[in-house]
Amino acid sequence: MRKVCIVLMLSIAVPALLFSAGAREAEEVNQLEIFSWWTAGGEAEGLDALFDIYSDLYPEVDVVNATVAGGAGAQAKAVLSTRMQGGNPPDSFQVHAGRGLVDTWVVADMMEPITFIYEEEGWLDAFPEGVIEMVSYEGEIYSVPANIHRSNVLWYNLEIFESNGLSAPQTIDEFFDVAEALADAGVTPLALGDVNTWEATHLLESVMLSVLGPEAYGGLWSGDTPWDGEAAKEALSVFVDMLDYVNTDHAALTWDEAAQYVIDGRAAMTVMGDWAHGYFMAMGQEPGEDYKWIPSPGTQGTFMMLSDTFGLPGGAPHRTNAVNWLKVVGSVDGQDAFNPKKGSIPARTDTDRSRYDMYLQSAMDDFAGDEIVPSVAHGAAASEAWASEVNDVVSIFVSNKNVDNAARSFARVAADHAP
Ligand code: GAL
Repeated sequence: MRKVCIVLMLSIAVPALLFSAGAREAEEVNQLEIFSWWTAGGEAEGLDALFDIYSDLYPEVDVVNATVAGGAGAQAKAVLSTRMQGGNPPDSFQVHAGRGLVDTWVVADMMEPITFIYEEEGWLDAFPEGVIEMVSYEGEIYSVPANIHRSNVLWYNLEIFESNGLSAPQTIDEFFDVAEALADAGVTPLALGDVNTWEATHLLESVMLSVLGPEAYGGLWSGDTPWDGEAAKEALSVFVDMLDYVNTDHAALTWDEAAQYVIDGRAAMTVMGDWAHGYFMAMGQEPGEDYKWIPSPGTQGTFMMLSDTFGLPGGAPHRTNAVNWLKVVGSVDGQDAFNPKKGSIPARTDTDRSRYDMYLQSAMDDFAGDEIVPSVAHGAAASEAWASEVNDVVSIFVSNKNVDNAARSFARVAADHAP
């Protein structure tokens, strides 16, 4: 039987408080507190599947599901930072592979290396070398990848496309043709929910990739592609043109509310990472029947990736439980229980392909064959500090749509942060 304690703020009578304080003390002896931002449909189910496995193996441990809602960690990252700085880390926390992990936590010496787990569990050959590199620093490994997500996906409502005689747009030009036809038919073409800004950055990174191509897109993060060059400006103006086709209430919606617009037929498409697949499935939608997907326009052959991982903070209060948690996250069983619900592919290469649906099998093939580039909206391409300044620029850009100003601001931010 799984024991998951969800911390709730309730007003209770004093005697009950006294009792619960005593009970809490007893619980604290054997807990596992897992910190993440997985609260939306698909995310929550995936996390629960991992908890189920953990609790079957360690029934004596109380799992504390410490979530802070807000896609891409919009709120969770700040809460985590306060806890870590205050010497109050959870036992393990969700963290993006790449510079999100390394620059934020490892360089600051706040994580314990876990190379020993990889050695004990025989994982050095089970995860792709490139992925292990993303979670390594100076010869040590610092986290366990739970998955690989794809950022550059366009999801669409099949019924709307069929009833309007449209095909999914493969190029930016086709996107504008389709969007125009949908607008003429009275349908909002593109759902966006950028209440937390990163969702607009997410759309922008796909457009940058499409217009610049994978190499020059990569150059934005290595310092080789100027943000205020002609190609980048061209991408910024395509993005502005796209905004003409989004729902007017975009600034009030979250990513999953935007995905819900596609389900409800209030919009035809949305560009979102494949956690949207997890969301659609959690909402009872049939992949291939109710909704379909295509790489976001003009990005075929490139897989913009990110990976959710879990690490071991220095001073984890229940270190042994945390190490066992990491073993579950990295196990074949853990990956095959989590990912089909989360809408992501396993990070391991030796899992059971038959457990994955048609979308995920196609994503596995693309990850194996496509060119791979990192997502900035999800911690892979840039440090958290850089990504958050990118979000600040995007937020102004979405409202004033001034390409020259945005290009200058992005370039200034890049000059401060590029390696
Ligand atoms: C991403 C994360 C995904 C998904 C998404 C929306 O940053 O990597 O797992 O949770 O945010 O919350």
